[in-house]
Amino acid sequence: MSTSGIVYRPRRLRATPRLRRLVAEHRLHPADLVLPLFVKEGIDAPVPITSMPGQVQHTEATLRDAVADAARAGLGGVMLFGIPAVRDATGSAAEAPDGILQRAIRTAREAVAAVEAEAAPGTAGRPGPVVMADTCLDEFTDHGHCGVLVTGPDGEQVVDNDATLERYAAMAVAQAKAGADVVAPSGMMDGQVAVIRDALDDAGFEHVSVLAYSAKYASPFYGPFREAVDSALQGDRRTYQMDAANAREGLREADLDLAEGADMVMVKPAGSYLDVLRGVADRSDVPVAAYQVSGEYAMIEAAAANGWIDRKASVLESVLGIKRAGADIILTYWALEIAEWIK
Ligand code: PBG
Repeated sequence: MSTSGIVYRPRRLRATPRLRRLVAEHRLHPADLVLPLFVKEGIDAPVPITSMPGQVQHTEATLRDAVADAARAGLGGVMLFGIPAVRDATGSAAEAPDGILQRAIRTAREAVAAVEAEAAPGTAGRPGPVVMADTCLDEFTDHGHCGVLVTGPDGEQVVDNDATLERYAAMAVAQAKAGADVVAPSGMMDGQVAVIRDALDDAGFEHVSVLAYSAKYASPFYGPFREAVDSALQGDRRTYQMDAANAREGLREADLDLAEGADMVMVKPAGSYLDVLRGVADRSDVPVAAYQVSGEYAMIEAAAANGWIDRKASVLESVLGIKRAGADIILTYWALEIAEWIK
């Protein structure tokens, strides 16, 4: 019988770094991480993104280097966003065979193959990152919306769901032709996964996976992303992206995408939606991704730059929290740096 009367002492397992490492329930691994990358058409030097310190709009040449770095760091994937030189009302550059995103996909595939080929003779080497592409029109439209606009019941401009689906299908096929391993519809149109799956299969791309941005909320945390893609968005996305008040609806969105054939599902943003992430992880038998978005990145960078928080510890804690909440795959702008820290 203990003289103190305290039987359980959880502090025992926290006493040393050795014990803490042994009993850690979750660990970050570079292969879980996906690095989002921006590539801009028609620039000859990378352009820093002011609201995302450390991130840039890449040229096609520096994109190649960034993907090679991601490969050498052992990252699980790269998610590509294209910024076209010319935008129009329907975002036609999104599906052009030689559009910026398709070129970026080809460049990324080449960079991955080149690094994989560096493996020592006789060894299998390490697989490079999976090449993923954002399948959405907002980077390509002059109005900045994720789809095709029509005039709504009150005379306002609204995104036409079904007209947009046709565009997503064509865009996904163009991305698959360029060599994307994974297409990632992020526009929150109803039925987008089914239409894309059909179009890919019809075009002979049964092997290309769909990562569905299933529970994507209308969020101010996408703010810095607008600068990253030079978006001129007028208004907001509340008629298609979800309301922050709703958790159950996020689970339903994930269920619908699974029923439509999504190979992986995503919750986005991550930090303010960890309950939704946990809920989706609990009911999904497919891999679950979470996107730590531009504003989440910017907040930690800004606080750290002011000396208000410890940057590295805060970054690691924010990402570990996402993992703990059930993410198998985490999209984060810190992917390269985290891989460096944890290797
Ligand atoms: C849509 C898209 C957005 C982001 C990823 N895909 C912008 C939006 O929906 O408004 C945001 C990512 C981030 O903020 O880091 N193409």
